[in-house]
Amino acid sequence: MELVHTATELRAALTGADNTAFVPTMGNLHTGHVSLVEQAKRLGGPVVASIFVNPLQFGAGEDFARYPRTLAADCEKLEAAGCDLVFAPDLDEMYPVPQTFTVRVPETLANDLCGAFRPGHFDGVATVVLKLFNLVRPRVAVFGKKDFQQLFVVRDLVRQFNLPIEIVAGDTQRETDGLAMSSRNGYLSSAERQQAPQLYRALETVVAGLQAGNGDAETLAAAARRHLSMAGWHVDYIAVRDADTLAAPAHGSSHLVVLGAARLGTTRLIDNIDFTLGEAR
Ligand code: PAJ
Repeated sequence: MELVHTATELRAALTGADNTAFVPTMGNLHTGHVSLVEQAKRLGGPVVASIFVNPLQFGAGEDFARYPRTLAADCEKLEAAGCDLVFAPDLDEMYPVPQTFTVRVPETLANDLCGAFRPGHFDGVATVVLKLFNLVRPRVAVFGKKDFQQLFVVRDLVRQFNLPIEIVAGDTQRETDGLAMSSRNGYLSSAERQQAPQLYRALETVVAGLQAGNGDAETLAAAARRHLSMAGWHVDYIAVRDADTLAAPAHGSSHLVVLGAARLGTTRLIDNIDFTLGEAR
C-alpha cells in the first residue's frame, strides 16, 4: 500500500489506473470504514482511500480542532483491508487558496434533518467530495448508510453534475450492543457509552411500531423523542421518511427510513434504520 500526501503524487500513483474504487474518510478509522474498503476491494479494481478532516463541513463550535487524527493506525487498518493507495492531503494541499467556489446543496436537502442543526454542513461535504472525486477520478465510490442524508447529497451531486461515478452504499456496522460505530463514540464517557445504544433502540422501537401498525409515523417518532429526552438525551430529531426520496412518506410508501440525531453530553450521535414495511429486517 502506498501513502501519498499531494495531488501530484496521487496522479503519478494512479497513472494508467481505471476501474478505481474510492472510499473517502476523515480518518480515525473503525470497523465501519474498514467494511467499506473491503466492499470496494470486492469490486475488483484498485482501492483508494482518502483521509482528510474537512474544515468546510464543521460549524463554529463543532469538533474540527479535537477531531481525532490517527494516520499511522489508520494506515495499518487500511493495508490489512487490502487498500492500495491512501491519499492524506494537508489543509494547504486541499485548499491552496480559499475555497470561494463551493457547491450549494438545494435548501430542501441542506436545511433538513441534520442540516437544520448543522448549517452549511452539507455544502461543505458536497464541496470536498467533488474536489476529491476530481482528484481521484474513481469509477465507483463507496459511502456508508450510517450517514444516510450524506449518501443522498452525494447521489444527487453525482446525478446533477453528470459525474461518471457510480455510488455504492455500505451497511452500517455496529458494536455488539447495537451502537453504530463512529469516530465520535470515542468522545463518550464510560457512563455515556453504556447509555449510547439507547438511540438505536429508540429507532428500532419506531420500526417495530410501524411494522405492527401500532400508530402513525409521527406519533411513534414523538414517543421515541420523549423516551430519549427522559433518559437524559438532548434530541435533535427522530423522523420517519421515504427511504428512496427522503421526503415525508407518501401514502403507500413502503421503503422507509427512521433517522435520528441526539446528543449525550457534548457528543452528537446519529443513526438510522431503513426497512420495508411488511418485511422482516
Ligand atoms: P467519515 O465520518 O470518516 O466517514 C467515512 C465513511 O464511512 C462515510 O461514507 C460514512 O458513512 C462511513 N461510515 C461511518 N460510520 C460507519 C459505520 N458504522 N458503518 C459503515 N460505514 C460507516 O463521512 C465522512 O467521513 C465525511 O463527511 C466525508 C464523506 C469523508 C467528506 O469529508
